[in-house]
Amino acid sequence: MILRIKIFFIIASLSIIFSQKSFSHTNDPRHMAMVTLAKNMQEISRVIKSKSPLSSDNLKKLEQVYEISKKIDTLFDEDDSDKKGSRASPEIWKNKDKFMALTVDFEKSVENLIEVVKSNDNEEMISAISSVGASCGKCHRSFRLPKKN
Ligand code: HEC
Repeated sequence: MILRIKIFFIIASLSIIFSQKSFSHTNDPRHMAMVTLAKNMQEISRVIKSKSPLSSDNLKKLEQVYEISKKIDTLFDEDDSDKKGSRASPEIWKNKDKFMALTVDFEKSVENLIEVVKSNDNEEMISAISSVGASCGKCHRSFRLPKKN
């Protein structure tokens, strides 16, 4: 009987630990923002590559990317590079000017894509979306640490 109570408590506390872990992870604004960027951009690039016109839903997602691009710096307010599981480089806070410059480049690249989409010129759109991708990559190369383990 005592053993069964013990097991019950172990299982109960484990599920709390696991749920808190996934809770904090999935609700972390930075994680959510970055994942949204990736999901939306993937979808938009698929449509552009297939030479189809962007649907109103695609345009909404592009707008969402733009909104995120304007406030990326707020996702990195405090140096939390020692946080477990984070791949944010301490360089973000040591070299804030360079980081800020890359957030501005990124925002501009998205702004440009929004403009180009209006032209409906597929080649222009491909080139604009490649610049957006290059901006993501440029920041990741400088400020996102390689995968631990
Ligand atoms: C100005 C810098 C910067 C820009 C621009 C940027 N990122 Fe990131 N991104 C980061 C940093 C730093 C991390 C690591 C954050 C961490 O681990 O806490 C990251 C993490 C991510 C992750 C992993 C998120 C997670 O928690 O699992 C994805 C996915 C991602 N970025 C996609 C993108 C995409 C797609 C773009 C462009 C459309 C983009 N990022 C633009 C800096 C940037």
